Amino acid sequence: MPTLKYYGHSAFRIQDEKHTVFIDPYLTGNPVCPSKVEEIRACHYILVTHGHADHLGDTEFLAKKHDATVIATWELAMWLKKRGIKVHPLGAGGGYDFPFGRVKATLAFHGCGADPREDGSVPPPNTPVGYVVQWGKTKTLYHAGDTALYGDMKLLAEDYDLDVACLPIGDNFTMGVADANKAAEWLKAKTYVPMHYNTFEIIKADPLNFAFHVEKHGAKCKVMSPGEKITF
Ligand code: NI
Ligand code: MN
Repeated sequence: MPTLKYYGHSAFRIQDEKHTVFIDPYLTGNPVCPSKVEEIRACHYILVTHGHADHLGDTEFLAKKHDATVIATWELAMWLKKRGIKVHPLGAGGGYDFPFGRVKATLAFHGCGADPREDGSVPPPNTPVGYVVQWGKTKTLYHAGDTALYGDMKLLAEDYDLDVACLPIGDNFTMGVADANKAAEWLKAKTYVPMHYNTFEIIKADPLNFAFHVEKHGAKCKVMSPGEKITF
């Protein structure tokens, strides 16, 4: 059974005995993350939803140190490749079978630019996405990325039995609690994990408001503390 570890914001790790996969590994500079990126012991793949600093995060460091492959949309993937990183480009709507399972890039409605980084480099404009990960073809996780609510999220419930759905609830840049609750009604996942909130003042949200509504509709909500791990 895979475990899901939360690093705060939208950063997660999925791991089993064989494979370690990070999603949006924003550890360094993440004010709620209890871990140091230097302490990460394994990393085979990294899924990046888009090029904003709070998602691209430590991708380059982790990929170089662990010889990991980065999965991202074309423009971002090609930019990382030029920087000496192994990449696998995916387009929105496209899926591919990886050693740990199948990944499909899903739509996300959000910004596509990126700010200069500490070394002066600037990621190119890139298509933001979310990901559905069919881990070992037995467990399915949806990470929505940064996105507004949109009606076609409903289609995911037709195609997948989602075990876990990680949804942004912080408002301002993404869905807030009310829209995330609507998404949760559509997605029909077994368990919901709120993300992208309380990292900064501007995305302050009460995860219990989200949990209350989710549980009223018969699903589970797991409010994960940064550093916490669950089995799914
Ligand atoms: Ni963003
Ligand atoms: Mn973000």
